[in-house]
Amino acid sequence: MTLNLTANLTLNLRDADVLRHHQKWSGAFLACERFSQYRFCWLRDSSFMAYSLDLADLRTHSRAFHLWVAQTLAPLKEHFETLLQRKNAGEQIPYTDMLPTRFGENGEWEQDGWPNFQLDGYGQWLWALSEHLRLSGETDLPEVYRDSVQMVVSYLQHFWEMGCSDCWEEFHDHVHTATLASIYGGLNSISRFPSVAVNPEVPAQIKARILTEHVKNGRLVKSNHLDGVDASLLWVSTPFKVLDENDPIMQATVQEIENTLVRDGGVIRYDGDSYYGAGAWLLLTDWLGWYFAEAGDPEKAQKFFQWSENQRTREGHLPEQVAVSSTDPAKLQEWNDLWGSSANPLLWSHAMHAVLLNRLKI
Ligand code: BGC
Repeated sequence: MTLNLTANLTLNLRDADVLRHHQKWSGAFLACERFSQYRFCWLRDSSFMAYSLDLADLRTHSRAFHLWVAQTLAPLKEHFETLLQRKNAGEQIPYTDMLPTRFGENGEWEQDGWPNFQLDGYGQWLWALSEHLRLSGETDLPEVYRDSVQMVVSYLQHFWEMGCSDCWEEFHDHVHTATLASIYGGLNSISRFPSVAVNPEVPAQIKARILTEHVKNGRLVKSNHLDGVDASLLWVSTPFKVLDENDPIMQATVQEIENTLVRDGGVIRYDGDSYYGAGAWLLLTDWLGWYFAEAGDPEKAQKFFQWSENQRTREGHLPEQVAVSSTDPAKLQEWNDLWGSSANPLLWSHAMHAVLLNRLKI
């Protein structure tokens, strides 16, 4: 399949434009302003938005986001220190007391019962910040980030083994493979900066844990309690590099993802998903493309890119998910009745589409 060069350069600019036009003056990105439940800035979604803006050379925007995170986290230091004391005293800390995964656009921590304890976003932020600084030619962590980064490093080092909600905000007490990979990627990448103190034993322990407890029958599993695959397992190689894209475990995992999660050309999150009847997610389809681009199969990567491109609305927007032939219509209706139709534009979809386009180098 060939893609038209001019058309795709335009698309790349368009996706980056959607992101920067939606960025708040504070530096935050709200996941989807038109969707009532997504008017928050998730560390996870936004870290990949910042990365895609870095790849599009829109560094002022990614920098504004990273500075916003540093400023938002700084006042949580005292809370974090209390968490450490409680942990050291042997207390079973309730999930609601752990640091949140999403914030209001001015850094507010809304304590509204959302399953906020999700460690992956903190690892992803460290990774995206490292990439931002690397692409900006920085050789050490600028002073302005130091306190918040060191707090996040310490938070992840102390709590990485604890069960938490996954990147889909579900299965609240499992240990999730993609979450471990995100923490590994964050700690590993931020450790390249001399002023950041990362205990090298922790990433090594995380990798060992993944290989011993999260691999079954030669492939990765969703969590310590679920043996199926989840599309987020792609993160283990791309981009967090716990394993290389061509490692046999990764290849077997991707084979299983292709066999069981690709529906009508797009990728669903996992078998048994019920959110909006389990549509195919654009960002995951692009992620599978990103995996193949890194694994040296640009043809396959382009095929997944094209599928997502085909879902673009007339306004030029990319939604979170689209219904496919396996989508459960009753469940879809239930969610439509509850929250309205699924999020559109989802900024994270635009981010992953722009990342893949950049990797395709067309
Ligand atoms: C997804 C999360 C995402 C959030 C905001 C949720 O439905 O499961 O992964 O961070 O939406 O986009």
